[in-house]
Amino acid sequence: MSEYELRAGQGLRAYQENPRGRILAIESSCDETAAALLEGGRKVLSMAVHTQIPLHRQYGGVVPELASRSHVERVGPVVKEALRQAGLGLSQVDALAVTAGPGLVGALLVGVSYAKGLALGRGLPLVGVNHLAGHIAANYLTFPELEPPFTCLVASGGHSHIIAVEGYEDFRLLGRTRDDAAGEAFDKVARALGLPYPGGPELEKLALEGDAYAYPLRAGFNEGPGLDMSFSGLKTAAVNILHNAAQRGEEVDRAGLAASFQRAVCRTLTDKAVSAARQQGSRALALAGGVSANRCLRAMLKEACQGAGLAFYCPDFRFCTDNAAMIGCAGHYALMAGRRSPLSLNGSPALSLCPGEK
Ligand code: KG4
Ligand code: ZN
Repeated sequence: MSEYELRAGQGLRAYQENPRGRILAIESSCDETAAALLEGGRKVLSMAVHTQIPLHRQYGGVVPELASRSHVERVGPVVKEALRQAGLGLSQVDALAVTAGPGLVGALLVGVSYAKGLALGRGLPLVGVNHLAGHIAANYLTFPELEPPFTCLVASGGHSHIIAVEGYEDFRLLGRTRDDAAGEAFDKVARALGLPYPGGPELEKLALEGDAYAYPLRAGFNEGPGLDMSFSGLKTAAVNILHNAAQRGEEVDRAGLAASFQRAVCRTLTDKAVSAARQQGSRALALAGGVSANRCLRAMLKEACQGAGLAFYCPDFRFCTDNAAMIGCAGHYALMAGRRSPLSLNGSPALSLCPGEK
């Protein structure tokens, strides 16, 4: 056994026995370089984020090569900033967590390599975290009493999954989008509406001024009894309304279209997630992923959960979109379960969360 393995193994046992163990987490899977420090798994000591939104905005979406280069430049300063905010030095860190996937491979590699360097240099235990497990854990940071089991809707730029969270490290896929993720559909319709990247929050703002029944957008597939969903039909219908009007030289009620599209997406996510939770006999439904910042979705789910006798959880706004605190929390539970990554840890762009998921 290498000297590192020995020290990391001892470090893991010490972390597990220390209720106030400190974990430093790093996230670099897409367009945010983030670091955070947590104590005891759920207490956030600091959060630092460098967003690349201004960098990618000029291209209308994330440019992977530019993302990787920006992560390389920022990861060191962002980690230092997280330590500074917490008033801690590296010698006061007990464990490390890093997003290992899914995400952009070049972007993931930056965080993973940096975390491995720190682990080796300091002899610290390291764990690779699934980004979606991180999003789910954002709910633990917001609700100290929340524990599995519950049903979780994870809606982000790359995923729309309904998951049975059976334990902190135990996930089962109940339903998913068959095509576009909800966030991706928001971004594409926003782009067609001429809104800047990332489109989700911009579309939400525009929708505030619109009538959600201005345009009847429906997707037959989503009205069936299954738990899978489809968003590409809704997206195409919305984009076609814009194109057809442009060809005829007609005006479009942009705010009404944004509001109608938002309502249609949120209705599908809500109906499928609530029926999944009912089928599971769950007592609680949680929301996670970047789209969880959407107020229409939060309100619709809250109301539907009340009607169905389900407790409803959604993360504090600061934990909705990509951040490292959620990665630290998920990493904590992985370490508590005895999962530690070797120094051969790699970035896995298609890392899956649930067994059998493709
Ligand atoms: O989780 P996240 O930050 O990154 C990924 O893991 O993909 O999610 C980003 C996605 C983007 O598609 C963004 O447009 C969407 O979440 N999003 C929103 C809102 N805030 C972020 N979509 C709708 N309404 C929002 N307020
Ligand atoms: Zn994310």
